[in-house]
Amino acid sequence: MVKPIHVLSGPNLNLLGTREPEIYGKDTLDDVRARCEARAVARGLSVVFRQSNHEGVLIDWVQEARTEACALVINPAGYGHTSIALLDALKTLNIPVIECHLSNPAAREDFRRHTYVSLAATGIVSGFGAASYELAIEAAAGLVGAN
Ligand code: DQA
Repeated sequence: MVKPIHVLSGPNLNLLGTREPEIYGKDTLDDVRARCEARAVARGLSVVFRQSNHEGVLIDWVQEARTEACALVINPAGYGHTSIALLDALKTLNIPVIECHLSNPAAREDFRRHTYVSLAATGIVSGFGAASYELAIEAAAGLVGAN
């Protein structure tokens, strides 16, 4: 049995759909979860989909992915720009790590142009709204050799 893809979303993404919809879109996080699940199932995989506003909780989940996931998709949200601790946790993983953003941070404010998470990412998908998550699932499935 192939392990699931773990999909982690960071702070404020629980408000997706109502939070700055002109930037992040109108899909809710539950909509994103459904899209990820459908994509994974189409590739013979499953997802564990979680969101937290708390840095330490996200780090615990990254550590859990070391043994429980075949790949990790992470939208670190604001913590991507600030958290060396999250980067350190990601660097302990021996599975593909796909960094994912709804918006394209490189085209926004200067402080969004750098993410620590990128230093530990196999690849990055950004700028496609909720579809960024689906593309990240596709990328992860390809990297783990799913059908
Ligand atoms: C985000 C981009 C980040 O800069 C921001 O802090 C977020 C969401 C995105 O998905 O576009 O919270 O990660």
